[in-house]
Amino acid sequence: MTWTEVSTIDKIPTGGKEAIKIGDKKLLIINHEDKIYAVENSCPHLKLPMTKGKITSDCAIVCPWHRSSFDLETGNPKEWTPFPPVIGKVMGMMSSEKPLSVYPTRIEAGKIMVDL
Ligand code: FES
Repeated sequence: MTWTEVSTIDKIPTGGKEAIKIGDKKLLIINHEDKIYAVENSCPHLKLPMTKGKITSDCAIVCPWHRSSFDLETGNPKEWTPFPPVIGKVMGMMSSEKPLSVYPTRIEAGKIMVDL
């Protein structure tokens, strides 16, 4: 395990997100209902950024591009390219569903640590 400090809890209030870069990794740190999640800031569909992704009440992030959604705990897809209507589904058939990379997190004295 390689725990790395990526931010502090006071920078990411509940409902907030922060895009960061650690070495060659692009991460999105999310505070959803006072729990911190760390996901790769690159959608597994077309590798586009997830920074503006919406967080849903069932603990998922929705990609802002073609609206694939991924469970924040496991990274597993809940929906794959549903947008735009019809075209999104056709696009989704051309690429297999892939999970979003997620990383374990913990808080240490106000610092957000991620196991990279
Ligand atoms: S880039 Fe995320 S769903 Fe297409």
